[in-house]
This record gives sequence, structure tokens and C-alpha cells, in this order.
Amino acid sequence: MAEEITIQLNDESLKVPSGITVKKALQLSGYKVTKFPEKEALFVPCEVGGCWSCAVLIDGESKPACKTPVREGLLINTSLPEKHQPKRIIHGFTGHSVGGVGTPWRLKHVHTYIEVACFASGCNFRCPQCQNWDITYNGESSPMTPSEAAQRMTAARKKFGVDRMAISGGESTLNRAWLIEYVRALKSLNPNADARIHIDTNGSILTKDYIDELFDAGMTDIGIDLKGCTTETFMRITAVKERRLSELYLSTAWSAVRYLAERYENIIFTGVGIPYNVKLISLDEIGLIGKKLYEIDPKIQVCALDYRPEFKRLDLQKPSYDDMVEVHNVLKAAGLKTVICQTEHGHIGP
Ligand code: FES
Repeated sequence: MAEEITIQLNDESLKVPSGITVKKALQLSGYKVTKFPEKEALFVPCEVGGCWSCAVLIDGESKPACKTPVREGLLINTSLPEKHQPKRIIHGFTGHSVGGVGTPWRLKHVHTYIEVACFASGCNFRCPQCQNWDITYNGESSPMTPSEAAQRMTAARKKFGVDRMAISGGESTLNRAWLIEYVRALKSLNPNADARIHIDTNGSILTKDYIDELFDAGMTDIGIDLKGCTTETFMRITAVKERRLSELYLSTAWSAVRYLAERYENIIFTGVGIPYNVKLISLDEIGLIGKKLYEIDPKIQVCALDYRPEFKRLDLQKPSYDDMVEVHNVLKAAGLKTVICQTEHGHIGP
């Protein structure tokens, strides 16, 4: 049996087992902990210490509850001060010549830098074939405030001589307070009309009010990766285990695409990413996705990504060029106007 220790939670003494995290101690004391943002609940989406959505005051300092251990006498305060600056672990800030799902196709075949990008640690998915896993599941680096990240990004924009500034991940949207402040800070440092603020996301927590807030802050371009259109496929690709949570994530991502098309057509540039690998999703489902997207907006940019062996799925075989031609044909047959397919020999254009 674990030894009991005493901690102070919001000025009250609490006995908890030693060796647990602050998150677990909060749960034991009755706090609601969630994987989808809810009022009055502690949002703990990544659990690796990357996103800092779960930050609380620990011994007077903001720290992630999901990975900070308790110890005798620890002081926890769940109310962050009013002037508290959110933090998050961010990597990158370098030039890219390919762009992301939310980069317009007309820029993608320019063989020079087209944007600068940074990558946020922490993700609410556990995709075994994650292509950016060393950053995604990194909870060890020092976190940055939105203003520090915006300054780094602005300096990178100048260095690489581009107008586009992208954030990807990991999952960029997890720490909402951080992302909104970051986009605002970026907009204020880059007030000229040419500056493009681009967010790549899995869309799983991107509610309508979140999109509105990002737009008001200065977001101009967005790429949403849809991990299928059936819950089974979504769970296979993301390794999210809970069915109801998977349904919520998937429906939120699809609703985000629909809302962007209805409310922000020609205002926010929107691109959609679709995964393809025969072991993860069938061509029939690709066809269904194509039809659903056609109903939303036939002109929406759709990019099929050839999921390759990475991370914990080294058994996967990279889709061949011919496989991706087939994917392209299926999406075009659904009536979509702008279909791009990533292949081992570069992109197949619209
Ligand atoms: S949930 Fe704790 S850092 Fe992401």
C-alpha cells in the first residue's frame, strides 16, 4: 500500500497516496478531468506535459498537472492569477518549401521557401504512425509564452523572407488561451496585409466559437486533417480508445470544416487533409469522404496524404504512386475541384 502524504489544495489539507501526479490528486479530491474542453473541468488532453492545457499553480509556479508528481507539503492552487501568461512547448521556427494542409496549392510547387513553421508539443491523439512523434510527445523542453513564440516566428519570417507563418504539431489547438494570445501577438507584430497566419489542426476540439475567436485574433488560413468519416477508421488511425470521445472528436472536426465553408468562404483559406494507407482506410471510405466534402463545398482544397511507416507502425507499407493516383481518381470522381495527392514522387496536382 502506498504511503500517504499531505498536500495543500486551494488552502485545504488533503491526504493523498505518494507517487501520484497532481492531476490524479485533483481527481481524488473530486475535480472533473476531461479530454474535451468543458467549463469547470480540468482539460487534460495530451498527458505528456507538452500542451500545458492542464497547468495549475504548483508551489506558486504554473506547471502541468498531468506530469508533476505530488510530494509532502506541496501547495496547489487551481486558480491561475488574472495576469497569468499561458505557456506551451513549441519547436521549429524555420523555413519550409512544402507547406501544410492549409497552404494553397498554387504556392506548393514553388521550389523555394513558402512559409515558416513551428510545431506545438502535445496531442490528444496517439496515432501509431505519427510522423512528428519526437515533437508531439515531448514534454521535457522549456515552454514559451505566446509573445515569446510570436517574436521567434516574426524573426523567422524576416530571415526566410516569406509572408506565411504556420503552426502545426502535435495538436496546435489544445491550449486555447495560448493559441489565441499567440495569434493576436503575431498579428500585432505583423500588421501588414500580406502576412498570413496559418494553423494546421486535427479539428477535434475546434468548435464554432473557437474558430470565430481565432479569426478575430488574426488567423487567415487553416488546414484540418480529417481522420476518416467512420468512427472505426478514426479509432484505428488515432488510437483514441473511447468510442464516445472518438465520435465527439470526429464530428467536431467535420462540423469545423462545414462551418468554415458556410461562414468563412473566401475569408479564411481552408484546406482539408485526408489520410491514405490501405491498412488504415478503404478506397470506399475515401469515396464517402469525397462525397461529404463535395456536399460541403466542391471547391474546397483536399490533400490526400500517403501515410507511411513511422513511429510504432513500421509494419506499414508506403502507398505506391499508383495507389495515390487511384485515391486522386476517387476524390475527383466525387466532384471535388481541387484534389492534391502526396506521393513518393511529389504531389499530383488538382
Ligand atoms: S495535458 Fe498536461 S501538458 Fe497536455
